[in-house]
Amino acid sequence: MPRFLLLCGLFTLFLAASCEPDAPICENCPEEETDAPITGPANPTAYTLEVPSYLPRPIVDETNPLTVEGIELGRRLFYDRIMGRDSAFSCADCHKQELAFTDGLPKAVGVSGRTGRRSAMSIVNMAFNPNGFNWDGRDGKLWEQAVHPVEDMLEMDEDWEAVLIRLRRSRDYPQRFRAAFGIGRTSEITQELAVKAIAQFEMTIIAADSHFDRVVYRNTEFFTEEEQLGADSLFFIEDVPVGALHPGCGHCHNAPTFGDNRFRNNGLDNVSSLEDFEDIGFGAVSGSRFDNGKFRTPTLRNIALTAPYMHDGRFNTLEEVLDHYASGGHGVENEDPNITGFPLSERQKTALLAFLRSLTDESLPTDPRFSSPF
Ligand code: HEC
Ligand code: HEC
Repeated sequence: MPRFLLLCGLFTLFLAASCEPDAPICENCPEEETDAPITGPANPTAYTLEVPSYLPRPIVDETNPLTVEGIELGRRLFYDRIMGRDSAFSCADCHKQELAFTDGLPKAVGVSGRTGRRSAMSIVNMAFNPNGFNWDGRDGKLWEQAVHPVEDMLEMDEDWEAVLIRLRRSRDYPQRFRAAFGIGRTSEITQELAVKAIAQFEMTIIAADSHFDRVVYRNTEFFTEEEQLGADSLFFIEDVPVGALHPGCGHCHNAPTFGDNRFRNNGLDNVSSLEDFEDIGFGAVSGSRFDNGKFRTPTLRNIALTAPYMHDGRFNTLEEVLDHYASGGHGVENEDPNITGFPLSERQKTALLAFLRSLTDESLPTDPRFSSPF
C-alpha cells in the first residue's frame, strides 16, 4: 500500500473526516477563515442543454445561465450531506436517482425522522415546466425552490448560515465556486450561488429515451400489441367519439411531456365544501378558494419507478391509480370536467399499464452524469 494511503487510513481512525475531500480545514476556525482569497481558474464554460427535437425547447432562465462548472458544482451540492443538519442529510436522500429522483415513500421523511406533508417529486425534465415548482407551483424559479429544503424543519433542517460557513471553510468548494461564478473570496460564497448551481444541475436531468420515444419518435422499436392498445384506444384522446366515457389520460398528461403542469383537481377527495381539503394545494398560492385541492399535473415519464403516487402518496400501485380514475371523482364543484369515470375491462387495464411502463427511460437510473460524484 502506498505510504500516504496507509498514513491516511491510520489517521482516519482518530479523525474520521480528515481524509475526505470536503473535510473542513479546521473544526473551530477563527472567523477570518470564512473570508480568504480564492485562486484558480475563474472562466466558466457556457453549456448548451441538448434536448431531442421531439421535446419542447427548454425554458431558459436568464438569471442563471448554465455552465459546465456550475452544473458540476450543483451536482456535488445536491449529493453532499454538508448541506443538511449536522452534515447528515442531502437532497439525494429524498431524491434518489434509482427511483427517478423520488424516495419510494408516500410522504417524505427528513433528517429529524419526522414525516413531511407531501410526497417527494421526481426531479426530471424540470426544463419544460413554466408553471412553478412543487406540487402547488409556489416557487417560480428552480433555484428559488432549492432554498427551502435546506431550512425546512421536516427536510434538512439547517440554517443557511451554517451551511455557508462549512462551504467557505471546505478544502474543495471555494475553488469550485470560483470556477463556476468567478468569485474571488470565500465570503462571496452565498446562498444564491449555491442554489443556482443546484438548479443548473437539476436542469440537465432530462429523460427522453424511453421505449415510447424509441417507438414513436426515433422509429427504432415497435409497440407490443398490448402497448399499442393502451396507446391508441385508452391513453390518448384522438380517436374518441365526443361524449364517450374513456380514460383519456392524454387530456392532461399528453405527449411528449406527459404532464402539462396545469393546476387541477383530479377528483381525489370527497369534500363537502372547498374549504375542507386537508391540503389546499394551489389554493394557498393563488389565494382563490376555487383553486383549493388543485395540484400540478405532473409528468408520467418514469411513472413505473416513482410509486407511491399523488401529492400525498395515497396510491401504492398504478393499478390503484387506474381504479381511482375509472371510478370518477366525487362531484366536487372544482373537479376537472375530464374526470368522468369510465369502464375498464381487465384486458384494457393490462394494456394501459403496459403503455404506462413504456414511459420509463431505462438509462436514467444509472446515467453517470446524474449520479453521485462522491
Ligand atoms: C425530506 C425529503 C426531501 C429533501 C431532503 C429534499 N426534498 Fe425536494 N422535495 C421533497 C418534497 C416532499 C417535495 C414536494 C414539496 C411540495 O410540493 O410541497 C419536493 C420537491 C422538490 C422539487 C420540485 C420538483 C417539481 O417538479 O416541481 C425540486 C426541484 C426539489 N424538491 C429539489 C430538492 C433539492 C435541490 C433539495 C436539496 C437542497 C431537496 N429537494 C431536498 C422532498 C425532499
Ligand atoms: C383532468 C386531468 C387529468 C386526467 C384526465 C388524468 N390525470 Fe393523472 N393527474 C392529474 C393531476 C392534477 C395529478 C396530480 C394530483 C395530485 O397529486 O393531487 C395527476 C396525477 C397522476 C399520477 C401521480 C403522479 C405522481 O407523480 O405521483 C398518475 C400516476 C396519474 N395521474 C396517471 C393518470 C392516468 C393513468 C390517467 C388516465 C387514466 C390520468 N392520470 C388522467 C390530472 C389528470
